[in-house]
Amino acid sequence: MTSEPKRILLIIGGGVAAYKSLELARELARRGIQSRGVLTRAGGEFVTPLSVASLTGDKCYTELFDLTDEAEMGHIELSRSADLVVVAPATADLLAKAANGHANDLASTALMATDKQVLYAPAMNVRMWTNPATQRNIDLLKRDGAMFAGPVEGDMACGEYGPGRMAEPLEIADAVEAYFAKNAAGPLTNKRILVTAGPTHESLDPVRYIANRSSGKQGYAIAAALRNLGADVVLVTGPTNIPMPKGVGIVRVETAREMMEASEGSLPVDCAVCCAAVADYRPAIESEHKIKKERGGLTSIPVEENPDILKTISQMKDGRPRLVVGFAAETDDVVTYAEVKRKRKGCDWIVANDVSPGENCAMGGESNTVFLITDDGDEAWPEMPKDEVARHLASRIADALRGPSLVKAAE
Ligand code: CTP
Repeated sequence: MTSEPKRILLIIGGGVAAYKSLELARELARRGIQSRGVLTRAGGEFVTPLSVASLTGDKCYTELFDLTDEAEMGHIELSRSADLVVVAPATADLLAKAANGHANDLASTALMATDKQVLYAPAMNVRMWTNPATQRNIDLLKRDGAMFAGPVEGDMACGEYGPGRMAEPLEIADAVEAYFAKNAAGPLTNKRILVTAGPTHESLDPVRYIANRSSGKQGYAIAAALRNLGADVVLVTGPTNIPMPKGVGIVRVETAREMMEASEGSLPVDCAVCCAAVADYRPAIESEHKIKKERGGLTSIPVEENPDILKTISQMKDGRPRLVVGFAAETDDVVTYAEVKRKRKGCDWIVANDVSPGENCAMGGESNTVFLITDDGDEAWPEMPKDEVARHLASRIADALRGPSLVKAAE
């Protein structure tokens, strides 16, 4: 992100999900993005102007013809004062007004008058969402260049189930961040970076597989942080159940061999960050049919070694990335084992973390305590949330990759 803080105009429509927009404002503030709120009359039935003002740290605007507001900031200026307009929750009514150019209150007038990109986070009952009129309005808005986050499928406040739930604040914040990253030059602009993330699944038979506890969170956070610095990121990911980061190239794989193939297919890159918890072994035989207990079943599983992606990329003779970063998940003697691993694999840096089971276990958890091991020695980083580890690492990668991209020069 650039040093100038980004600003959004947050239009809050009248839906139960309005309370989530308060969380969105807080999450954006945490990411250094300021919000200014516009609350529709219906939105005011769900959250108050005071709570919007408290969480945005700015005045909350509600009326089109409010003389005090107009004296402070006219509605045209308000609609252009932000770098991006976010409508959350975007109700069926707000979408219809925006698609058809109505301007009969402050929110719809701001949407008509803005010269900025608009991101809608729709939220409504499933029948209203699937109604052809809503779908027509969505099509019209998309044709006009609007962006969308969600809706997602789930239980609704009205008791029904289906698509129409507003995307979670974290997901909307990711979309906002991705939009700003795509449009801002950063220290990694023109640099191509491969990130591997998540576990791999190694199939035993059509219903069973061998896997590990990796959630993919740390790798996804690294992909997003690199993207935020302007990098062109390819994320090769094993199966996960967390949202994919926006604005990065995604290649989904299941097995280590597929991950290897996809990673090699993404080369050349300036930097490779191998964060995936790749299964070291796969079952030697993958049964086409479900293995049955009465036929002897599974008393032992013969295995074969999987290809080592980090080692292969680190030891490439031609076109090796300038910087190769590995991870070492250890339960004992973290730094000692990680240092040996760095030498054995031939990567430039190793990010080592302790994955001993416990309350704050990094595997699957929200935070991480890591050591960065480089030619210059070992650095212990304090425990921090995974997205902060990712930001620190991305900024170190940006420092290390200063200068023109060799990938672009080679092309
Ligand atoms: N890695 C990889 N391909 C593999 C195995 C591991 O790319 N087949 C990468 C991981 O993404 C990570 C690093 O190697 O960056 C270390 O992974 P880890 O599982 O800790 O190391 P192993 O080589 O498997 O060593 P061990 O299991 O003995 O600790």
